[in-house]
Amino acid sequence: MPTTPSIGVIGGSGFYSFLDDVEEVHVDTPYGPPSDPIAVGDLAGRRVAFVPRHGRDHRYPPHKIPYRANLWALRSLGVGRVLAPSAVGSLTPDLGPGTLAIPDQLVDRTSGRPQTYYDEGAAVHVSFSDPYCPHGRRTALEAARSTGWDLADDGTLVVIEGPRFSTRAESRWFAAQGWTLIGMTGHPEAVLARELALCYTPLCLVTDLDAGIEEGEGVTMEEVLRVFGENVGRLRSLVADIVTALPAERDCPCPNVLDGLELPLELP
Ligand code: ADE
Repeated sequence: MPTTPSIGVIGGSGFYSFLDDVEEVHVDTPYGPPSDPIAVGDLAGRRVAFVPRHGRDHRYPPHKIPYRANLWALRSLGVGRVLAPSAVGSLTPDLGPGTLAIPDQLVDRTSGRPQTYYDEGAAVHVSFSDPYCPHGRRTALEAARSTGWDLADDGTLVVIEGPRFSTRAESRWFAAQGWTLIGMTGHPEAVLARELALCYTPLCLVTDLDAGIEEGEGVTMEEVLRVFGENVGRLRSLVADIVTALPAERDCPCPNVLDGLELPLELP
C-alpha cells in the first residue's frame, strides 16, 4: 500500500466524510489552512485524501472557501488527481434532480475570489480551454454508465458568485446562452487545480431545476440538501468505483501543463 495519497476528493454540500479509518493530517499552506484537516485513508488499494469543501460543519459559504489552500494542501500530500463532487442546479428540464452530470465546459460568473497562485513575481498564463481532465472525465463516465445512473455526459457549468441563488431572469438568461448547469463552487477550484498541474474531474449531482426553468417556488437550500442526501450513498460508491478504475500512472496532458512556463514560486 502506498503511503502518500495519489487521489484527492473534495466533497461538496452534504458530502462531509468519505473514508473509514483515516489519519487526520493538519496541513498549513501559504494560503492558510484548508477547509478542514485532510482525512487520508485506504480505498480500493489506493491512498486517498479527502477534504470537505465547506468544512465538516459547513462553515464556509462558496465565496469564502479556502480554494487555494485546499488544492495546495492536496498537492503537498502527493495528490495528482482530484475528484470533485458537488451539488448543482439544472438549467434545462432535460436534466432533472438526481441526474449525474460530468460537464466539459465552465463559465465563470464569480467576482472577487482569489483565482490564481501566480499573482506576483511573473505572469503565468495556463491553458484552460478544456478545463477538466479528459481521462478523469472518461473514467467517471464509464463508471457512472455501468451503474445505470441517469447521466449528462457533457454540458456547461456556469459558476455564480452566490451565496444567493439566481433570480428567474438571471436563470433564463443563463439557459438562453446554452449553459446547462449552475453551481457556486466549480470556480476557482478547477483553474487552481490546473495551475498546480493536477487532474480535476467534476462530479455534479443535479439537485434542482433552477428558478427560471420551472414555475415553482424557486430553489431552496432545503431542497438542495434533501436531494443531495438522497443521492450521497451512490455518489460515494461512484467515487470508489472511479478510484478503482483510474490507472496508477497519469497519462493525460494535465501533468505537463506547466512545462516551459517560468513559475514565480516553488510548487509543493
Ligand atoms: N447548487 C445547487 N443548486 C444550485 C442552483 N440552482 N444554483 C446555484 N448553485 C446551486
